[in-house]
Amino acid sequence: MTEIRMKVNGAVESLDVEPWVSLLDALRERLGLTGPKKGCDQGACGACTVLADGVRINACLALAVQYDGREITTIEGVAHPLQEAFVRHDGFQCGYCTSGQICSAIGMLAEHTAGMPSAVTEPGAGELSEAEVRERMSGNLCRCGAYNGIVDAIMDVAG
Ligand code: FES
Repeated sequence: MTEIRMKVNGAVESLDVEPWVSLLDALRERLGLTGPKKGCDQGACGACTVLADGVRINACLALAVQYDGREITTIEGVAHPLQEAFVRHDGFQCGYCTSGQICSAIGMLAEHTAGMPSAVTEPGAGELSEAEVRERMSGNLCRCGAYNGIVDAIMDVAG
């Protein structure tokens, strides 16, 4: 067991974890934060997305011990206009992917603001295009296929 300390949604949490415990399992099973979902547990679906010091990560691929001393935000700690935009634009059906979609979109907007290019960023383009949103959000799957609503919600907030 290793003792780690993280700031999670604004509160300092200490927990003892085995070195193989994922950040996702630590959040869900040790801290009771079930907003981040376990879809694939192998980095393919994005349902587990959380923010680590403001950067989006797949919590299923991260070991909890790697995040000792870091600041983690899950959907439980988010208060962002995207949440209401997802409701306005029907950016979900079953909702399983939604917490990951929203955390990922927050990180994505920060990446865009910081000037981090995507695969479809056109040189000199300042505004986020729909194609760019779709590319930047391609790591977050929605099995219900609510992609149009998700993209509309993000474009609403980004615009
Ligand atoms: Fe982490 Fe699917 S559960 S990417």
